[in-house]
Formats: sequence, structure tokens, C-alpha cells
Amino acid sequence: MFFERPGGGERAILVHLEGQDPEAREDPQEFLELARSAGADTVAFVSVSRHQPTAKYLIGSGKVDELHDLVGAEKAELVIFNHTLTPSQERNLERAFECRVLDRTGLILDIFAQRARTHEGKLQVELAQLEHMSTRLVRGWTHLERQKGGIGLRGPGETQLETDRRLLRVRIRQIKQRLEKVRSQREQARRGRKRADIPSVSLVGYTNAGKSTLFNSLTTSEVYAADQLFATLDPTLRRLELDDLGPIVLADTVGFIRHLPHKLVEAFRATLEESSNSDLLLHVIDAHEPERMAQIEQVLAVLGEIGAEGLPMLEVYNKVDLLANVEPHIQRDEDGKPERVWLSARDGSGLELLEQAVAELLGDDLFVGTLRLPQRFGRLRAQFFALGAVQTEDHNEAGDALLAVRLPRVELNRLVSREGWQPSEFLEQHTLQ
Ligand code: GTP
Repeated sequence: MFFERPGGGERAILVHLEGQDPEAREDPQEFLELARSAGADTVAFVSVSRHQPTAKYLIGSGKVDELHDLVGAEKAELVIFNHTLTPSQERNLERAFECRVLDRTGLILDIFAQRARTHEGKLQVELAQLEHMSTRLVRGWTHLERQKGGIGLRGPGETQLETDRRLLRVRIRQIKQRLEKVRSQREQARRGRKRADIPSVSLVGYTNAGKSTLFNSLTTSEVYAADQLFATLDPTLRRLELDDLGPIVLADTVGFIRHLPHKLVEAFRATLEESSNSDLLLHVIDAHEPERMAQIEQVLAVLGEIGAEGLPMLEVYNKVDLLANVEPHIQRDEDGKPERVWLSARDGSGLELLEQAVAELLGDDLFVGTLRLPQRFGRLRAQFFALGAVQTEDHNEAGDALLAVRLPRVELNRLVSREGWQPSEFLEQHTLQ
């Protein structure tokens, strides 16, 4: 939209920085995938050691000259860094290479921009782009005026740069207002579902794990699925009937990725919040991916950030068709509770097992344990009694009620979230059955 972003088949040189710190190192394979997802045509992949980083270019000046020659020889139109560049580094490198330079955040934003499908997703991407851009504004973003007419905005004697900054601010404010509206509509819809007692299940997982494919197979709807990262940017909700349980609402969510810039997690918080309000999370994992353990950790870390780490979760090991000797099956813990389902979303084998496991978890998943309710939660306490869920009641020194309860977990989530809380906030002690 505002970025003159690469179209498909753009000739790009990828620059990967090799750091000494393995934690901070980005994965070169993933970098290639990201570039491919953005539609870049990679003509060269250059690994640069970070022994002598310079403030001006991030990389050493010898490397800058080398890359300049490579840009000429390969007729590259774009150089992408697998790292964050400061705005001035980006400009200095652009000047040195005489072609466009994009950093990792810019690359991910570009992919987001191409993938956003719903109104909310598009607004979120535009907002994130504008905020990213406002730190990088140089001059001459004349095409911005087309967005807002520019009439009455340009005062006499005002420089182009000031006008641009002001236009950006106006646009950012407009988008925030629209997002606010979309979000309150979504919140209303969510409350309506809660009132109707329809459990909600969210698909979460690392990008490319197969969430959209699974969502489609389960709902037989046509959500865009592609062998590209971030095919999903917007939560897509569908109602689904499970034989043993009745209706549930299934949400597809944005794919997670390692080192997702924090600003982007913020930008997509609303999308991800759909997950933190769910009764059950289906964590889709690519069973064929050698890096899956690291991916699982990343997903759990993002879930922690959005306050969804305490929710019941079922792991879905997808793509079993690519594994020799693994048939679709449900794996259970020592109490017999489903904890992992092995299936293939693509060929549909094992889907009925997943439906069964979900119905079991949502229907029979009993919460047995003790909740600590401070005095101000008198209404909630009364509701537990009304449900006949309280087995014994005790009090601690602070006067908090200690309720030993036994009730379906879905019910517990519903009651507590109606008050705007998470069950984990009241947990004193619990036993799963
Ligand atoms: P994001 O939107 O990036 O988060 O991705 P996603 O998790 O929604 O993945 P998506 O459903 O787009 O699938 C990614 C790729 O994996 C596609 O090429 C799918 O065809 C492929 N895929 C999904 N499920 C299976 C499966 O069961 N077996 C095999 N072999 N491939 C699968």
C-alpha cells in the first residue's frame, strides 16, 4: 500500500548475519522460506560474519563493496537482511548498493500485507506498516497524499517532510479508530457466543504447520491455504457440529514465528486474543519438521505473552502421511486424557479421532480442585453454589473463600471469563480427571 513492495519474481540478494550468540541467530533456511513467501526471486545468498560490525552499515565496509558489486553482477533489485536494521543503516545501505534494502521486520510486514484477508487484518497490517515507516520517514512520500486528499493539510511554508509526518499521524489515528470499532463488534459477537454456551476452540501453531488445511478439512470451507508462510493472518471463525457434543466455534489464527518482532505481536494482539478466550487450544505441529521442538517452544512463548498459557491444550501432530510407520491415533496421558492426536489434515485421515478427542476434552473434562476467591467475588461464589459444584468450603486468614469444586472445565471457563478473569487466577490447587 504505502511501501513500494516487491512484486512476484523480484530479484533479491539475501544477506544472512552469522552471530556468535546462537540464541540471537536467525535460521538461514527459514530466511529463504520467508523471502520465497514474500515472492522474492533469490539470486544470491550471502553469509556475513559479524566480527566487525559498523554502526553505519551494520556489516563491515569491505562487505558493503563486495555486495555492491554483486548487486550489479546479478542485476538485483533488492537486498534483504535477516536482521533488524536501524532506519539510518537501511538508508546508508540503499545509497551504497543503489537498490532497495529491506530488513527482517520489513520483510515480515510485507508478507503480512500480502496475506491479510479480512478488514481487520488489513487494518492491522497497515497500522504496523505505518508505525514502522514513521521511524523511517525520509522525504518524498508524495503518494501518501492520495490517501487523504491532502487538502487543508499543507500549511504555507511547511516542508514536505512535516506534511508527510502529519499525514502519517492522521492516517494512524483513523486506522486506530476503525480498529477500535471492529474490535468492539468482535467482542460483542464473542459475548453472544458465551451466552449461548457454545464452546470455542482455537487452532494455534507455528507458521506452515497446517492450521488452515486442518481448518478447511474440519469445516470443509475454503480458507486460503498455500505452501507459503503466513497464509493466515486473520482469525477465521466457523461453526462446527461435533457428534458427541453439539456445536463449537472453531477459530483459525495467525501463524507464529521465531523472533517475531515484538511490535508485530502487539499489532496482532487482537487476532491472537481470540485464542486466549478459547475453551480449548489445538496446537498444530508439523510432525515432519526437524525443528519442531524449537517451534513448539516459540508457540508456547507467544501464548504466554497473550495470557493463554493456562488454557487446556491438545497437540495435533499433523502431516503423518509424510512419516513412515505412523498411523493416525490418539495419544493419552496416564489418566487416559487425550493429549496428542496424530493425523493428516491434507488427506483427512485421523480427523474423526480429533473430533472425538475434542468432544472428550470439552464434554468430559472435569475440573476438580480448589479455587481461592477473594471476598469481592461473592457473586461468582454464589454461582458455583447454584451449580452444585461446591464440595466443601473453607476460609483462609485473609477471609478468602477456599472452594473445593468439581465441574466441567468448559463451565468453569465460562463462569470465570464472564467476570473478565482466567481460571488460573483463582487456582489454589487442582487435580485433573
Ligand atoms: P500459516 O498460515 O503460515 O500459519 O500456515 P498454516 O499453519 O495455516 O499452514 P497451511 O495450512 O497453509 O499448510 C502449509 C503447507 O503444509 C501447505 O502446503 C499444505 O498443503 C501442507 N500441509 C498441510 N497439512 C498437511 C498434511 O497433512 N500433509 C502434508 N503432506 N502436507 C500438509
